[in-house]
Amino acid sequence: MDISKLAASIAESPTVKLNAEAAKLRAQGEAIVHFGIGEPKNKAPMSAISSAIEKLNSGEVKYAPSDGLPSLKKAIVRYTEKNYGRTIDPANVIVSDGAKHSIFNVLYALINPGDQVIILAPYWVSYPEMVKMVNGVPVIVTPADGSFYPKLSEIEKAVTPSTRAIIINSPNNPSGAIFSDELVGEIVEFCERKNIYLLTDDIYHKLIFDGKKIAPVYNFTKKDIESTNVIVINGISKTYGMTGFRVGWVVANRKLVKVMTNIQGQITTCNSPICQVAAEAALNGDQSCVDTLRDTIEKNRDTVMRELQSIPGMKVVKPQGAFYCFPDFSAFNKDSMALADFLLKKALVVTVPGKEFGMEGHLRLSYAGAPSEVADGLARIKWALDPNAPREIQIGNRKVTRDW
Ligand SMILES: Cc1ncc(COP(=O)(O)O)c(C=O)c1O
Repeated sequence: MDISKLAASIAESPTVKLNAEAAKLRAQGEAIVHFGIGEPKNKAPMSAISSAIEKLNSGEVKYAPSDGLPSLKKAIVRYTEKNYGRTIDPANVIVSDGAKHSIFNVLYALINPGDQVIILAPYWVSYPEMVKMVNGVPVIVTPADGSFYPKLSEIEKAVTPSTRAIIINSPNNPSGAIFSDELVGEIVEFCERKNIYLLTDDIYHKLIFDGKKIAPVYNFTKKDIESTNVIVINGISKTYGMTGFRVGWVVANRKLVKVMTNIQGQITTCNSPICQVAAEAALNGDQSCVDTLRDTIEKNRDTVMRELQSIPGMKVVKPQGAFYCFPDFSAFNKDSMALADFLLKKALVVTVPGKEFGMEGHLRLSYAGAPSEVADGLARIKWALDPNAPREIQIGNRKVTRDW
């Protein structure tokens, strides 16, 4: 079968693929520990579930407006005011099928063929592929000092007359790093001076550890919402553990929102109103579930740090937010694909090769699962890699011995 060159060039999402493989192994009875997919294990807030059920019971489940239900958009306006200190209008908001879809819509609306989009490594796996899908060119900027923080001068060097946008994601997937307010401020100022769009993917902005606070991105622009180059992307997937509801949104100027609404109207018509009322209830409801989730993953972060640091040769930077750790495994003399494969086969632990995030030598561990599972998975990694760890370990109902 002949498929288009563009479609053929798009890589499969490695995290979605690993999730499917892990589910298959689990179904075969294997005691898999899944550090692969970025998904909190907590249940959706009761208020969200009740609203969805109520909507279903009403039997009135019809098309919604393409840009989102007015009541959800109002909730997002309030959320923006509360969390970003910015007063916006519902016309500045469009609701889509998850933040992933939101990012795609922004790129589709902004990118002409050949336009370049700067992506900062390590980066979320989907950014380069999405840029390619809209005939854009991903330009990767990797910090020369081996850290997870680019310098503005490195970004500046990558800019050309074709640069149309820069994507930032802080707290970051896969590193858990948080960009300093100073760096974000510099990037905002630079983008506005050069008339480059700045997409800030804020999907983890509520999952910040150690009581740290970050300044809202709008603090760094004097421009109003209609003229700023800052475009904010957010959603309910990570903050409320509502990944399957598929609700994300964009806050941008009205013109861009209108264009994205036209695009969405031709492609999906609208996000499901069942999911939208659930999102609205999550945003408007009791927020203590967010604190509970943050506390759990912060404790998991501490377990991950403690265990990884005890493995000789392992280099690990303490994550400050999100629920990922991106340790440097280069001392173990395997490329990240081979190492992830080794850990899956020997220790039944799913990790994601760093190569997928633009940094070889690393593996990404997603630790949003139950604390006992996180501890079990770390013990297995240690068993597999640390010659000082006990030779024998329990994996599921089997005792296994290290024989390498
Ligand atoms: C950085 C980043 N942005 C966006 C998304 C997508 O979120 P959603 O489930 O809302 O599509 C993810 C999910 O893994 C992510 O890590």
